[in-house]
Amino acid sequence: MPKDFMWGGAVAAHQVEGAWQAGGKGVSIADVMRAGAKGVARVVDDAPIDGKIYPNHWGIDFYHTYKEDIKLFAEMGFKCFRTSIAWTRIFPNGDEALPNEEGLKYYDDLFATCKQYGIEPIVTLSHFELPLHLVKEYGGFRSRKVVDAFVKFSQVCFERYHDIVKYWMTFNEINNQAMWSDPHPMLQNSGLLLADDENAEETMFQAAHLEFVASAKAVQLAHIIDPTLKVGSMIAMTPIYPLSAKPKDVMMAERAMRYRYYFGDVQALGEYPAWVDKYWARKGYHVDITDADRAALKAGAVDYVGFSYYNSLTVEYKEDNPLYDYNEATSVVPNPYVPRSDWGWQIDPVGLRYGMNWMASRWHKPLFIVENGYGAYDKVEDGKVHDDYRIDYLRDHVAEMEKAVVEDGIELWGYTPWSGIDIISASTGEMKKRYGLIYVDQDDEGKGSGKRIKKDSFNWYKQVIASNGEDL
Ligand code: BG6
Repeated sequence: MPKDFMWGGAVAAHQVEGAWQAGGKGVSIADVMRAGAKGVARVVDDAPIDGKIYPNHWGIDFYHTYKEDIKLFAEMGFKCFRTSIAWTRIFPNGDEALPNEEGLKYYDDLFATCKQYGIEPIVTLSHFELPLHLVKEYGGFRSRKVVDAFVKFSQVCFERYHDIVKYWMTFNEINNQAMWSDPHPMLQNSGLLLADDENAEETMFQAAHLEFVASAKAVQLAHIIDPTLKVGSMIAMTPIYPLSAKPKDVMMAERAMRYRYYFGDVQALGEYPAWVDKYWARKGYHVDITDADRAALKAGAVDYVGFSYYNSLTVEYKEDNPLYDYNEATSVVPNPYVPRSDWGWQIDPVGLRYGMNWMASRWHKPLFIVENGYGAYDKVEDGKVHDDYRIDYLRDHVAEMEKAVVEDGIELWGYTPWSGIDIISASTGEMKKRYGLIYVDQDDEGKGSGKRIKKDSFNWYKQVIASNGEDL
């Protein structure tokens, strides 16, 4: 890989930090999500209820253990570490006049610890952890007040950390809400709790629009505060294939791709693709977009595209959908040619190279793989974790990534697999869906010693980094 390639690992604040009330932190949406399970959605409460399990309250206690954990990352050879800033540590309710100094101080120390080991921090501003108050008071990103709150939060972060943090992303996996029929991403992306009579899809388009504006304003601010800052989008890249070569299946896949990735079009190119207006008109949707918004989008296009890659999807044309509308709940069918993880996620390394080429040729921006990993059950045997399945998954994906760079000429800044260390799963709230290269002795109820154990994948990844991707 290129000489300066950034190998590292990724986590998000709400999935690791715990300490949900420490240092003046406010309540985020993650703090009211109970534990779910495979196929069991996480219940969202109005406020935490005594006796119920909220796994993000404890995470893996990274708030207290970050010094030892970062030392382990350094031992693996990390050149960078991706995490997020918990918005509620900085603005506990999201709309205060002044930030919380104790929260700011925590990240001063965290980023300084990274630097001490020569690790570049890569920071997401909003990773599924909106202040709950912004959801209840303003309806999340339905409101322009929340745009202002995000821009202010971003400004405070850029001003405070710009000397130490050069790489930023605005909204994590902003396009997950394309699955608007599932309430989970709607809440995590945009802070939307839908009323029964609300049109989920129309509300999604409006909220996403305001996030695009918020993101674009943050990009512009970052460049004013410090022209050396690089601010990216964060797209969940899940390529969508046609089930067959039948022309209508191929057309259905094209429609699905343009729907799932118009988010990237707006953020990378600074404008909506033409089909969106036509689609809204046909559906009778009204989305409030001002001329000032359009100007902000143009001026605030991102510097690079950060993306996650876990799996691909497949669609087929159905007779009852002659206009090829994409609805992830009904359009997606299993791909008979790829295996699946224990959680049903399709395993498709070639899809990573395909997705990288698709994005690079569409958006003409540098790319950064900021998540890729394998959620699996791990077993500790004689104090060791033999996670060959994770090594196989990562090896196959890194090999495809390298082809995209070496053979296809794609500019890729780095690779941060999910996750350096075991974390709380975002979709299920489980601990046992483990992604880490470092095992954390803790169960779904937060019980355990918290001890860290290096998995076999730790040593494998160390050798990959040391050989700059030669020795897989
Ligand atoms: C991405 C998120 O969706 O995938 C992470 O950015 C998340 O926050 C990861 O943890 C894996 O998903 P899950 O639901 O298995 O934790």
